[in-house]
Amino acid sequence: MILILDFGSQYTQLIARRVREARVYCEIHPYNLAPEKIRNLHPRGIILSGGPASLYESGAPDIADEVLHTGSPVLGICYGMYVIAQHLGAHSAGSQAREYGPATLVIDDRDALFEGLDGREHQVWMSHGDRVERIPDDLTAIAHSDNSPYAAVRSRDGLMRGIQFHPEVVHTPCGTQVLRNFVLKICGEPGDWTMAGFVETKLKEIRDRVGPDDRVIMGLSGGVDSSVAAALIHRAIGDRLTCVFVDNGLLRAGERERMEATFAARLGIPLRIADATDLFLERLAGVIDPEQKRRVIGHTFIDVFEQEATAIGGARFLGQGTLYPDVIESVSFKGPSAVIKSHHNVGGLPERMRLELVEPLRELFKDEVREVGRELGLTAEIVDREPFPGPGLAVRIVGEVTRDRLDLLRRADSVVIDEVARAGLGKRLWQAFAVLLPLKTVGVMGDGRSYESAIAIRAVESQDGMTADWARLDPAFLARLSSRITNETRGVNRVVYDITSKPPATIEWE
Ligand code: XMP
Repeated sequence: MILILDFGSQYTQLIARRVREARVYCEIHPYNLAPEKIRNLHPRGIILSGGPASLYESGAPDIADEVLHTGSPVLGICYGMYVIAQHLGAHSAGSQAREYGPATLVIDDRDALFEGLDGREHQVWMSHGDRVERIPDDLTAIAHSDNSPYAAVRSRDGLMRGIQFHPEVVHTPCGTQVLRNFVLKICGEPGDWTMAGFVETKLKEIRDRVGPDDRVIMGLSGGVDSSVAAALIHRAIGDRLTCVFVDNGLLRAGERERMEATFAARLGIPLRIADATDLFLERLAGVIDPEQKRRVIGHTFIDVFEQEATAIGGARFLGQGTLYPDVIESVSFKGPSAVIKSHHNVGGLPERMRLELVEPLRELFKDEVREVGRELGLTAEIVDREPFPGPGLAVRIVGEVTRDRLDLLRRADSVVIDEVARAGLGKRLWQAFAVLLPLKTVGVMGDGRSYESAIAIRAVESQDGMTADWARLDPAFLARLSSRITNETRGVNRVVYDITSKPPATIEWE
């Protein structure tokens, strides 16, 4: 494995993504991971990430000297490079010349780091406050840029390298190759980490952990992560896994039936359905504030799940579809993330019920989870699903959530689902859905005046949901949506299209 020590850069996850793309397993740990723990991981190479700190601050994050001398190659990126330079004796040899944006890297030495790069000059992305001005004798420059005589350096023993630029971002087109060279050529990783291999390892791990007699319970949301985790656990221990699907009454049309058909019928995974619609709607009555809706739904979910778990009885483990980005958020030295989405997390349940967690996907990124799903034979319908918020349609009904308003939204929304599928837009769109607005407007239908609800359509393109742009959909397609929704949904006489990107808006309306 490759160990990435995190100094708090906003790009640390991207470094891990690039290493994984080279089919090399890597893990991110905080920069101050104890040296004996580092040795126990047996890393073939260590990457020191960038970070927001300045070396000139007192108490700037640092590593123990021995981390640089495990015998494995080390690559320092940006701040990580200063750390190396500092340890090799570049005391106070720096300036605070800031540099953000594109720069031209000029390669001066055909180091293994640059194998496969044509020509000497390459576009790279710089983002740093400090810069190394003088390097210690143990380092030599292997590349420079206009702004920096030491854009890349290598130690005399060939085990340490530092680069000032960020190879992990898309603005450094040669960056993927540079990272590949480090892990494959310099560290000697074979690059054979595959999802098929991952599945085999995990099956054994789950069997060893759960043993021959114990049981696992798990809440399914219908989303990709919990579905794939359940399929994996089921393959490991069979019917000693019980899955619970809480129907909160806030699902899109046909969702519960789809879950039943997929899990129970197609995959042969027993599914317990807890119909808690009445309870959820009762507790949501009169609630308007979006955050309050989320809290009510989160707590109610835990109550219902706990009741089911008690009724099933005898389970020692709780399965969860936790992914690596959630894990990194909580272990990285930046500290635990502020908000954990309530639906993915059953709160204090594990402690309260004394359940141990089984989280077979906690080393994986989303696209790797999809690959595992395909490996396990899950259909595209499950693996390529569009994301759906835990609080469901409640955050797509602006204002109070009632049974009638849910029915109305569900009818309009199923037109969107249907038309998106027919037009084959599923791959292009991150999400497409209907939102019910808390207002009535005037219309004319037949010979009469109407005064009815308005529906907004939200359709966005996005890589990861963090930012998004509204989809420039064909006007003929939008016309079809509008006409079908007003014709097929009694109580709706107006349809509008949301043309806001994220930021400033979010994808969901609440
Ligand atoms: P926003 O609305 O914040 O959404 O732009 C970004 C992505 O996250 C989904 N989302 C949620 N998922 N629980 C979830 O599991 C939630 O409370 C939640 N809120 C938003 C949203 O659908 C989008 O894909």
